[in-house]
Amino acid sequence: MDLRIEQLSAGYGKVQVLWDVSLQVSAGEFVAVIGANGAGKTTLLRTVSGLLRPSGGRVRLDGQDVTRATPTRMVQLGLGHVPEGRELFAQMTVRENLQLGTAVRAEAKQRQAAGLEQVYALFPRLEERGSQLAGTLSGGEQQMLAVGRALMGRPEVLLVDEPSLGLSPKVTQTVFGALKAVNAEGVAVLLVEQNVAQSLTLADRAYVLENGAVVQEGTGAALLADPGVRSAYLAL
Ligand SMILES: Nc1ncnc2c1ncn2[C@@H]1O[C@H](COP(=O)(O)OP(=O)(O)O)[C@@H](O)[C@H]1O
Ligand SMILES: [Mg+2]
Repeated sequence: MDLRIEQLSAGYGKVQVLWDVSLQVSAGEFVAVIGANGAGKTTLLRTVSGLLRPSGGRVRLDGQDVTRATPTRMVQLGLGHVPEGRELFAQMTVRENLQLGTAVRAEAKQRQAAGLEQVYALFPRLEERGSQLAGTLSGGEQQMLAVGRALMGRPEVLLVDEPSLGLSPKVTQTVFGALKAVNAEGVAVLLVEQNVAQSLTLADRAYVLENGAVVQEGTGAALLADPGVRSAYLAL
């Protein structure tokens, strides 16, 4: 499934945050959007997944205009979203959180057992902790659970909001490795991150977001080698 974002504008009240953002994630692609704190990464993902209404522009899935679709509808169409801050149900178990990931999508609910098996294969830690309350997990385990819950909806396109935030380098590797594995199975990934070096290493292509606008795009490797990107984001 192909995601196209066309000249998207959005904000909060009178404050415009996104300015004519255009980007594309082709079926099976791994795309990163890198940007500093406050650049508009979370606003972008929330607008794409229907949580925020855009003030202009379009979002398309396989050509279909889904700009004003509800978040529930977007999940039903095959869009997964791992939100900033994870938004887990702290008083529910790991397994219950995962099961909830299938709630609004009939084909995911029917294949819930297979979905659990897949998520547990990806994150064996979650299987060990299946009966534990989500709120008592470590930060890394919570991030794995947030990714796992989104995968339970059987997305074809997965939006992931700063999964590395607050995690150790080792746990970050685990989570990024899982995203790469999911992508290798055919799920398109749109990752937004401040962790520029690792995101550009993972991504086929990437966009640089500054003050709510795309200012640069290229392959992950090209941006990683770009002097402007290096001095602005890698302090090299
Ligand atoms: N709920 C909100 N109400 C008002 N302004 C917001 C809200 N959320 C984010 N913003 C503002 O929008 C801008 C972009 O924020 P955000 O999308 O969270 O950036 P990022 O995820 O790249 O750190 C910031 O200036 C932020 O203060
Ligand atoms: Mg953010």
